[in-house]
Amino acid sequence: MTDKQSIVRTLLANKNTQPAMESATAFAPSNIALVKYWGKRNEGLHLPVTSSLSVSLGKRGATTRISLASGNCDEIIINDQVIASDTGLARRLCAYLDLFRGDKNVFFRVNSHSTVPIAAGLASSACGFAALVKALNQFFAWQLSDRALSILARLGSGSASRSFWHRFVLWQCGEREDGMDCYAQPVAPLWSDLCVGLLLFKTEPKKMSSGKAMRLTMASEFYQAWPARVDNDLKLTRQAIAARDFKLLGRTAERNALAMHACMLTAAPSIMYSCAETINAMKKIWQLRDQGLSLFFTQDAGPNLKLLFLEEDKHAVQTHFPNLEIVQPYREQLL
Ligand code: PMV
Repeated sequence: MTDKQSIVRTLLANKNTQPAMESATAFAPSNIALVKYWGKRNEGLHLPVTSSLSVSLGKRGATTRISLASGNCDEIIINDQVIASDTGLARRLCAYLDLFRGDKNVFFRVNSHSTVPIAAGLASSACGFAALVKALNQFFAWQLSDRALSILARLGSGSASRSFWHRFVLWQCGEREDGMDCYAQPVAPLWSDLCVGLLLFKTEPKKMSSGKAMRLTMASEFYQAWPARVDNDLKLTRQAIAARDFKLLGRTAERNALAMHACMLTAAPSIMYSCAETINAMKKIWQLRDQGLSLFFTQDAGPNLKLLFLEEDKHAVQTHFPNLEIVQPYREQLL
């Protein structure tokens, strides 16, 4: 069976094993799926059951600096806080860094700043792993292709495979057992007046990881309907992007997210990431839509909502949701 280390070995064959510089810094934008990834066909390699499609979050993401650590263990610093080595987060990152050590006695210092809350369903692991892979690529001067970067980031977190571009991105699920055909690519065209609003209710880390929630959901009989649903939603979303049909895009994204959460409710035990504020906001959005406002939402593995609307409705949306953080994925000055 293929494991992560053999994938890394294949992708880094004949590449430098020694750092090419003292430190390297890279940024990766966070991404929000419009058609979700939910369920793995291979747990170890994070190979998804279905393809998925996302939009990037402009300047919201992670900036990561990598250098060699002075001591005999990895040093992980996130948002200026040293992460204790016995935490789940540190263990996950160190296990990932194990893949790139070459020499067992090499340890890294990873200093990352995230402009999205950590583990709150805002794709912090997606941008975190993508920024780390980009920084490693520079640090060792590997000059990897986008495809290889996407595959390496996927080994850290599935959705990280989509965090390398400032645009719509399609992550194809592939068929191969080793996952070499499972990577993301940008989708044209750009959509300059598209807005994403972050409606945050809770920003503390979620209680159940998306990995565990996916596993439980896949055991539900209702999950059997999910892959066909995604296939159809991918077609509609690509059609919507090509035709700039915002209503079709929003309607499809909203229904796809609701279908994912509906599947989770049928798991045993039942999984519910929503809180009371999530449900109230959904109802308010439906009401506003009935009154003619072109506003839709999507929701990931957390209680927060991401609103989708066009720039022409920005002020109306802001009036109804004064605390909304608005991101214009295609307008923002990129780093
Ligand atoms: O990549 P993970 O393990 O963080 O899972 C992401 C799952 C969702 O955010 C709910 C959906 C998606 O496609 O990003």
